[in-house]
Amino acid sequence: MAQASEVEQILGRVAREMTDGLLPAQVFADPDLYRAELRRIFARAWTFIGFEAELPSPGDYALRRIGEDSFIFVRDGEGELRVLFNACRHRGSQLCRADWGNTAHFTCPYHGWSYRNTGELTAVPARDMGYRGMDLSAWGLHAAAQVDSYCGMVFACLDPSAPPLETYLGDMRWYLDIQFKLTSGGMEVLGEPHRWIVDANWKQGAENFCGDSSHTQITHRSVLEAGYIPSEAAGAPGAAHGLQVHDCDGHAVSMRQQKGSASVFWDYPEEVTRHFDSARLSTAQFDLARGGMAHLGTVFPNFSFLHVGLTNSREQEAGGYLSVRVWQPTGPTKMEIWNWILAPREASDAYKRRAYQLGTNSFSPSGTFEQDDVAIWPGIARTASSVFAEMNEVAFNYQMGLGKRFNVAPIEDWPGPGHAVPSNAGEGGMRTFHESWLRMMTSPAP
Ligand code: FES
Ligand code: FE
Repeated sequence: MAQASEVEQILGRVAREMTDGLLPAQVFADPDLYRAELRRIFARAWTFIGFEAELPSPGDYALRRIGEDSFIFVRDGEGELRVLFNACRHRGSQLCRADWGNTAHFTCPYHGWSYRNTGELTAVPARDMGYRGMDLSAWGLHAAAQVDSYCGMVFACLDPSAPPLETYLGDMRWYLDIQFKLTSGGMEVLGEPHRWIVDANWKQGAENFCGDSSHTQITHRSVLEAGYIPSEAAGAPGAAHGLQVHDCDGHAVSMRQQKGSASVFWDYPEEVTRHFDSARLSTAQFDLARGGMAHLGTVFPNFSFLHVGLTNSREQEAGGYLSVRVWQPTGPTKMEIWNWILAPREASDAYKRRAYQLGTNSFSPSGTFEQDDVAIWPGIARTASSVFAEMNEVAFNYQMGLGKRFNVAPIEDWPGPGHAVPSNAGEGGMRTFHESWLRMMTSPAP
């Protein structure tokens, strides 16, 4: 195991090797580096908490995490959304243990201190006897320093000096808007998030969703052969072309677009697409939605989305849905994946059921695609943890499409933000992710 100073040594090695597209294997397994990530990244970045719509009524709450820390995501009695540290102010007992529910008060199971759903301390047993003169207002629950939302998605940040959410998302908003703002009702979250545990580092999923297009034809070959998704949508040359956008204020996007002017809209049926309103987006954004076969991306550090059209049976038409996921760190080589399935609010209930079915059957624990990825990622964690890799300073290769190696010119007149290339045959999105990681891991603490 690396000592504290060895964390800096690994980071120095990352900085030296990254310019050549290499990444030391230890980045995906070192326990001390992981501990540093919790402080330097998860305690400073904006991270996704949940959807406003998950808590429709006053008193609704759900347990969420920032890094490994537990927080209560709650709509208080006045309707305000709060992100409260799930720890009693008395002696730190975990205040709320249920995953979700509705309550006006949270009462500690240890000695019974009770808090309103705003976080205010309202009752302390034996207060008159043992806490004479106690100022209850000084003992409310701690809360995340900043909470804000974008397109109905709530993010929180533990660093009071961090820039606001809009600045943090930056240019990535242009791409998020394509996914979330096509209709006046926006995207509706369907049910509770699915959660599952994978023996791999959290960055494995986050970097994959930046646009690891070259794995799709290999890892997911059986799904393609089953005919559940058009081969072009999965990156094969033909009727689709690939696009990758890097350096998007630290975030990255990958898209596969139908060639020509056909309306694809991720295979949503006409009953849904007739609600798509071109006036809500720029012409360039709407055109990307119109030709969209698959769009995916990662907002650094651990929020990803996937907008895709596919089917789960050769007998059924393909349909579209949007997946939002979080790669929740739970250890150097363990993560919990959280996955929400969404569809346009204006869709019929029957279509929403279909979208939910498509989501659970493809990118979810029992999903055809998901099972392929989670068969691969733990092997990378084992390699990264190995003595041999440490002894030999093994590095992983992210050189595809780097600099002069890339036989593809960037799109000079790209109408959106970021650095766009007209090919999926590159690893620039993943390099953007790891550059953001290095920047945050090496920037001085506030
Ligand atoms: Fe909560 Fe004592 S730890 S009341
Ligand atoms: Fe995959």
